[in-house]
Amino acid sequence: MNSVDVLAISGSPRVKGNSKSLLEEFLKGAGEKGIKGELIIINKLNFRPCQACGACSRDGICVLKDDMQEVHKKASLARGIVVAAPIHFGSMSSQTKMMIDRFQAFWAAKHVLEKPRIGEEEGKIGFFICVEGSPVKKFCHSAYDIVQVFYDILNVENRGMLCYSEVRTAAPGIRGNPQAMAQVYQAGVDFAEEIIKRKTEYQVSSAHWFKR
Ligand SMILES: Cc1cc2nc3c(=O)[nH]c(=O)nc-3n(C[C@H](O)[C@H](O)[C@H](O)COP(=O)(O)O)c2cc1C
Repeated sequence: MNSVDVLAISGSPRVKGNSKSLLEEFLKGAGEKGIKGELIIINKLNFRPCQACGACSRDGICVLKDDMQEVHKKASLARGIVVAAPIHFGSMSSQTKMMIDRFQAFWAAKHVLEKPRIGEEEGKIGFFICVEGSPVKKFCHSAYDIVQVFYDILNVENRGMLCYSEVRTAAPGIRGNPQAMAQVYQAGVDFAEEIIKRKTEYQVSSAHWFKR
């Protein structure tokens, strides 16, 4: 089964916006260490919000058949996940939250069935990048708390957050801040180094969930 080492998820409706620029730079940094990444843009996907039907409590699989199936697969097979989200009305964008809610099947597998879809022993890691227009840092922390719950459910160790405030949408946006771009590039390098370190210790073993 084809997989990449790092799954980068942009939760911005601005498909060429600040979140995407930051993720591209993060992946460039990871690439310097030879780590492969794939960037997906949630806003381009076709999927419904979680319907809270409870069906996933039977087998840990979501009954909604849409683009989120592929995201479940990619997240399961990657060694690292990095999410980038803009702040909308005080927390993460609705696109990002809607994607996270669709991981309810992973919650059910872990907490109802006690058969986590991603095992702790797989040693997966995560990172969060947040970007906002205002200087109010608590908005990023609100988004971070949600990402922390997401990573806990996926048994992904959260390696931290970078939050960029007072970033405008007008060009050049975050690209006009070389310090931020260098910082996020370095975060990608560090993330890749951690993945490389863990490759000898941990094995990704979630593939059986997709052989049914
Ligand atoms: C609907 C909407 C709501 C927003 N709400 C906030 C907010 O509550 N606080 C804030 O700091 N910025 C807010 N912003 C600004 C964005 O976070 C900011 O422009 C960010 O740089 C956009 O990143 P992007 O290019 O990745 O989408 C909002 C933008 C939109 C479109």
